[in-house]
Amino acid sequence: MKIAVRPLAELTTLGVGGPAEVWEVETPADLLEATSAPYRILGNGSNLLVADSGVPERVIKLGGVFSRAELGEPREGDAHVTPWLGAGALLPALVQQARQKGLSGLEPLAGIPASLGGAVRMNAGTRFGEMADALEAVEVFHDGAFHVYHPSELGFGYRRSNLPAGGIVTRLRLRLYKRDPAEIEELLRQVEAARQGQPKRKSAGCAFKNPPDDSAGRLIDQAGFKGLQRGGAMISLEHGNFVINTGGARAADVWELVKTVRQTLPLELELEIWGELP
Ligand code: FAD
Ligand code: EPU
Repeated sequence: MKIAVRPLAELTTLGVGGPAEVWEVETPADLLEATSAPYRILGNGSNLLVADSGVPERVIKLGGVFSRAELGEPREGDAHVTPWLGAGALLPALVQQARQKGLSGLEPLAGIPASLGGAVRMNAGTRFGEMADALEAVEVFHDGAFHVYHPSELGFGYRRSNLPAGGIVTRLRLRLYKRDPAEIEELLRQVEAARQGQPKRKSAGCAFKNPPDDSAGRLIDQAGFKGLQRGGAMISLEHGNFVINTGGARAADVWELVKTVRQTLPLELELEIWGELP
């Protein structure tokens, strides 16, 4: 197990955030030790706004046995696989693995830079489908033990789940189907096309959830906020729901933009805040 104080800016896609003690756990014994004091669980840091002062809790990151993910091959006569996968593994690599094996089910999640555990916790998705759709079972560590849940027990909804308090997703079981590779490619092309308007700059994805039957990006655009800057943070000119780090942004800058938008539009945050913001 590696333990080090690190700036969370290094471990988040937005690239902002102060220091924390990062515990990279590799075995169940590490996990037991790491959870013996207050903690937070970090995935790939792609939905987080971490305060410039960092967080006082331990930050647990899954490595070792918790980050292995092999899809395997369907058994003779079977049209599907149901592998158990480590929650610390990265979703984009798994989407590619499935594509190469002609296995279908993860295409709607192409382009989401999540860890598998973070994708379960957020029920990450696109208009084509969401993480919960491909889940067969989820293993969650809480209260010192591993528990297995059926997806129907975990309260999945639009960008939400209801994991037990302090729960760390350690493994998940997916159900993927054999499918014509040409159909998989076509679906991936459509999902990719729906992402064309999104910025490639450092961000944490959409800052706000979409209101029912509307788009936060469209509303922010219509209200004239695109291009608004605070310090090194800017509301993307390409897509109104992305706050980007143009270089040297601080969490306080991002937060100023979020607060400014919310003075006009009553939007619910999708970004998760860690620590104390001004
Ligand atoms: P983190 O950001 O590290 O953490 C998010 C939350 O999950 C935190 O509460 C954290 O404690 C919890 N968590 C992380 N790992 C675990 C675990 N193992 N067990 C329990 N809880 C855990 N999201 C979408 O839904 N759809 C999109 O199309 C999309 N596009 C994006 C595009 C870009 C360029 C970026 C940067 C982000 C995008 N996102 C999108 C947002 C983000 O990728 C998702 O919310 C993703 O699910 C976050 O996963 P993560 O592993 O990075 O989690
Ligand atoms: N629009 C504008 N101006 C903008 C942005 C969008 O007019 O600045 C319009 C678009 O033209 C379109 C509509 O708003 O008519 C919807 O936009 P888009 O297709 O980009 O989808 P979205 O609702 O903004 C959602 C998810 C994304 C996901 C895409 C693709 C949310 C909050 N966002 O975006 O998820 O990648 O669909 O399926 O649900 C995320 O959650 O972090 C995320 C990036």
